[in-house]
Amino acid sequence: EKNVKLLEDRIREDGLVLPGNVLKVNQFLNHQIDPDLMYKLGQEFVSLFEGEKITKILTIEASGIAPAMMTGLILHVPVLFARKQKSVTMNDGLFTAEVYSYTKKVKNTVSVDQKFLSSDDKVLIIDDFLANGQAVQGLIEICKEAQAELVGVGIAIEKSFQDGAALIEKQGIKLESLARISSFDDNKVHFVGDETN
Ligand code: G4P
Ligand code: NA
Ligand code: NA
Repeated sequence: EKNVKLLEDRIREDGLVLPGNVLKVNQFLNHQIDPDLMYKLGQEFVSLFEGEKITKILTIEASGIAPAMMTGLILHVPVLFARKQKSVTMNDGLFTAEVYSYTKKVKNTVSVDQKFLSSDDKVLIIDDFLANGQAVQGLIEICKEAQAELVGVGIAIEKSFQDGAALIEKQGIKLESLARISSFDDNKVHFVGDETN
């Protein structure tokens, strides 16, 4: 069975639609983690970006780490996660970007140590969710600062009705999302391309 389908099925089975267009997936991704499912997502990302010489996976703490880790494991490349802090006063030796979270209404500085990212790197960004795209945009900015080559962005769950996907694609960046949600109408998850939409 195609791994994309596995993720959709799991979302249908164990996902909870909460008010405010939020999908709770604490059963397998955001709290408890299903490593077998994560591994399959990793395989899918590897196959979607096959032929690219990826040297590093870049994600953001916390929930991006699980799918990123499996992708890095399969490719045998390091997994680098950007750290989030309320504010950073000492930026020495860090690549940083400002990330505004619409859901949490907070601005974070995300950062990675300059020693772990350089112009020699070909980077695949992986994250668990794509909503407004601010987190991924921060990672894109960090790649630019490092003059690293961005191969593309791999997302587990894209909320296609929000702005993130368009934001990434309009920059000419390759985006691959494994599950694409078109709406939460009637408190149910509807996927892009579903007959039942
Ligand atoms: P954006 O990064 O795409 O702009 O998203 P936004 O600011 O709206 O979301 C901030 C946080 O909420 C991110 O996690 C993002 O992954 C997560 N998120 C967005 N939509 C959903 C959703 O429908 N369901 C779930 N479960 N998460 C969603 P974060 O704050 O970086 O937290 P962490 O869990 O990675 O530590
Ligand atoms: Na995330
Ligand atoms: Na999250």
